[in-house]
Amino acid sequence: MKIPDRVIRWVFKPAVFLASLGPFGWLVWAALTGHLSVNPLSDLTNETGVWTLRFVCITLAITPLRKLTGWNGAIRFRRMTGLFAFFYGTLHFLTYVIADRFAGLDFTNGMLAWSTPRNLVASVVEDIYKRPFITVGFTAWMTLLPLALTSTAGMIRRLGGRRWNLLHRLVYLTAMLGVLHYWWLVKADISRPLAYGAVVAVLLGARIVWARQRSVARTPAAARRAPAL
Ligand code: HEM
Repeated sequence: MKIPDRVIRWVFKPAVFLASLGPFGWLVWAALTGHLSVNPLSDLTNETGVWTLRFVCITLAITPLRKLTGWNGAIRFRRMTGLFAFFYGTLHFLTYVIADRFAGLDFTNGMLAWSTPRNLVASVVEDIYKRPFITVGFTAWMTLLPLALTSTAGMIRRLGGRRWNLLHRLVYLTAMLGVLHYWWLVKADISRPLAYGAVVAVLLGARIVWARQRSVARTPAAARRAPAL
């Protein structure tokens, strides 16, 4: 499939960008107009969390899409969707810091006291240490950080393609940790984390199959016929 370069650049990319901003726009609108539930901060945390995981999955789906359809242009969307995963992940972290940590601080000296930022950092660090699902979520977010920082063309050049590719395999870990984090935090119905787990398993499983096929194809035919020792 060959889509002209200027159509990708001027039509598809802006459309995907706007669509990716959609959940953020909806959340801002819903928060400002009272369309969230009685616990709006929790809604914001959950929605941004689930969109982070969705964007991680969408990013992981691009290579299989390219292989299955033969549409090489698909790769040109990977950087954008990956950066949106980081964007929603960071919003998720910030809403957690405000909804979960800031709201629980003791403000006996007033909210604007010097001790407030220090107490906030201490409370976040303590929570990351104490609650395993927060530890896993934070680790997942940390794996996205180097990917976002090295997403520019300059960083790809500086690192070199091979090292850059190796580093960007961290996204596999992000996906697995994201599912584990989700699984760990749900109390009863595990159907949604299970569904995301299945999607991630298929997306990562396909890569294992392709890597094995590539290594078989690289092995000389004579070596393949030789009996195994
Ligand atoms: C800075 C790191 C993170 C922290 C502190 C954090 C914290 C939280 C908290 C407090 C909740 C709500 C729990 C509840 O309602 O009981 C949550 C939900 C969630 N988080 Fe995270 N998280 C982090 C990173 C991530 C990342 C990187 C992903 C995805 C890759 C993710 C995916 C989710 C999902 C899917 C939910 C559940 C949404 C739902 O129930 O609809 N989180 N997280």
